Amino acid sequence: MNGVTGRMGTNQHLIRSIKAISDQGGLKVSDDLTLMPDPILTGRSHDKLAALAARTGVSKFTTDLDSALASPDYEIFFDASGTLQRAGFIERAVKAKKAIYCEKPTAVETSEALRLAKLCEDAGVKNGVVQDKLWLTGIRKFKLLRDQGFFGRILSVRGEFGYWVFTGEHADQPIQRPSWNYRKEDGGGIIVDMLCHWRYVIDNLFGPVKSVSCLGATHLPKRVDEKGKTYDCTSDDACYATIETETGVVCQFNSSWTVRVRRDDLFTMQVDGTHGSAIVGLRKCWVQSLGSTPRPIWNPDIDQPIDFFGGWQEVPDCTTYDNAFKIQWEEFLKHVALDTPFPWTLREGAKGVQLAELGLKSWEQRQWLDVPSL
Ligand SMILES: NC(=O)c1ccc[n+]([C@@H]2O[C@H](COP(=O)([O-])OP(=O)(O)OC[C@H]3O[C@@H](n4cnc5c(N)ncnc54)[C@H](O)[C@@H]3O)[C@@H](O)[C@H]2O)c1
Repeated sequence: MNGVTGRMGTNQHLIRSIKAISDQGGLKVSDDLTLMPDPILTGRSHDKLAALAARTGVSKFTTDLDSALASPDYEIFFDASGTLQRAGFIERAVKAKKAIYCEKPTAVETSEALRLAKLCEDAGVKNGVVQDKLWLTGIRKFKLLRDQGFFGRILSVRGEFGYWVFTGEHADQPIQRPSWNYRKEDGGGIIVDMLCHWRYVIDNLFGPVKSVSCLGATHLPKRVDEKGKTYDCTSDDACYATIETETGVVCQFNSSWTVRVRRDDLFTMQVDGTHGSAIVGLRKCWVQSLGSTPRPIWNPDIDQPIDFFGGWQEVPDCTTYDNAFKIQWEEFLKHVALDTPFPWTLREGAKGVQLAELGLKSWEQRQWLDVPSL
């Protein structure tokens, strides 16, 4: 597990996925077979790795990635290092014939993302990219109802993602995201970050992405970094994108690090269909059917008589919902050990990079762009 002393690597991948799988006694795949991950942590800082290993109870770590790659003990190379470091690490791990699993985006340019996918395919190594939102509890509840036909024909989708990321200028409001996110030269930018998520969400839930129109903005020109130094923000911190699917669904996704939240969750997605609508959050999903849709009358001279929030029904929990990253990890472990299907490959991940790249181009050219199939 490479680059795991970072935010995603530590919290989502090591603690909530691999350690959680170990703590539950491994991944039981049949009556007589349980898969047990046995990770080694790799990175640049011996001290950081040692501290993380001690904290999580992992016994092995090294700053010598090549020796870990050379060892036949490790079948999978996982990368959660910086986006711009990803390609170099994947190349080394493919040479060592490891199965590849990594964070998104795999690159910031489509050609590079496709090159990495082909590298894995040509070497015949199994590969996968994190597409965690597909396993969010709220999205699973929505998908169940969609598959049951609750919404009729889906017409439009409006996603709102984001929260206020402190600039670091005020002593008692420290930054809560790494500063590289706001520097293009370090792989930052919310378009690169979020459009790869919206690509697989839309492709999987609403139909293949056909075209995109995107406006980005750098609302805050300066922030303060981890060392207290003020720097210029060279990448976008907000993104206003409209995406059309082949099936005619109009999807609008706002993503922003410069908004304050007054909605049900950090990410909410309203889906409107002919027979019903949904508000999808990270864990919850609320629905309203055609039969229970209120009939409002426009009258600004009186207080609104309809309780609009009261007219929605919460979809109940129907099963146990595990951490989204952990579920995808379990799918990948099964794929590597048992050859079960795993469609979320580097080639699929490249489609996300493509939407991000075209989003940036659309902003620059101020026009709609078609998204050719890859
Ligand atoms: N799936 C998601 O929802 C999601 C969310 C946030 C970030 N990400 C992705 O995860 C990746 C990491 O993001 P983060 O927020 O954890 O950032 P981070 O800065 O907290 O972590 C990056 C880690 O990579 C390490 N690193 C950087 N260069 C390295 C090198 N040359 N060798 C070894 N290690 C190196 C850093 O030391 C750090 O530990 C990014 O690609 C980002 O796009 C995904």
